[in-house]
Amino acid sequence: MRFRFLPLLCAALWTLPACAAPKPDGTVRQTASPWTGAPDVFDVPGRESKLQLPLVYRDLKIGPGTKVADIGAGGGWLSVRLGFQVGPTGTVYAQEILPKFTAYIDRRAKLSGLSNVKTILGTPTDPKLPANTLDAVVILNAYHEFEQPIALLTKIRAAMKSGARLGILERDDESLRREARRAYEKTGRILRRVTERNDGNPITDDHRLALDVVRREGERAGFRFLSSRQLRDDNYLAVFVAP
Ligand SMILES: C[S@@+](CC[C@H](N)C(=O)[O-])C[C@H]1O[C@@H](n2cnc3c(N)ncnc32)[C@H](O)[C@@H]1O
Repeated sequence: MRFRFLPLLCAALWTLPACAAPKPDGTVRQTASPWTGAPDVFDVPGRESKLQLPLVYRDLKIGPGTKVADIGAGGGWLSVRLGFQVGPTGTVYAQEILPKFTAYIDRRAKLSGLSNVKTILGTPTDPKLPANTLDAVVILNAYHEFEQPIALLTKIRAAMKSGARLGILERDDESLRREARRAYEKTGRILRRVTERNDGNPITDDHRLALDVVRREGERAGFRFLSSRQLRDDNYLAVFVAP
């Protein structure tokens, strides 16, 4: 009788970030479920100008001849753009965990006349990239889905040449925090959108990730943090260097 509420208490504690069990790579934060829907959903008008790709290419030193991986490439929106940016002497490794996306990218690259885009099918903890090969890696809007981010980054690092750059593009959660705070002050209620499927912390959203989290995890995976850049629409780019 005395222990009747124990399971309830445990379940409640489990929702607190501090009580969540660490994953094998030591991280505890909740991650978003990998996108499994339509591959062309990220082909939205205006995306290119929001992400300010010329600045991203400059910070990551991506130009003609670069060997670059697009991790969590989805429908290949970025992979084909990278294909044109690196040109015939460069290579783009469009990496995914879902075969339907790699098949889609293969077709897309062919239709775009690109023979320098090669797809790679990995697993959630092994990107299956060639060792010590890459000059640059880009992770666009996918890092928040990596179930074991530090384990994956460590394997990505092994595929990079020394001095190669890693760019992680995510959307900051600061504006959501402000929105949530304002809504709470006005209505006394926490916005459902920012608590849904999350860890009970009203200031987070599982498709957004603060820069300091990305920075900390990148460093824990052995990268040197180099710089960050604010892009449009809450997007940011975090730049790391492989040792
Ligand atoms: C939100 S989509 C973004 C797709 C693409 N980067 C873009 O922005 O157009 C995230 C992608 O990451 C992939 N993903 C999730 N976990 C992954 C992992 N551990 N390794 C590689 N890709 C992963 C998903 O399959 C999904 O296609």
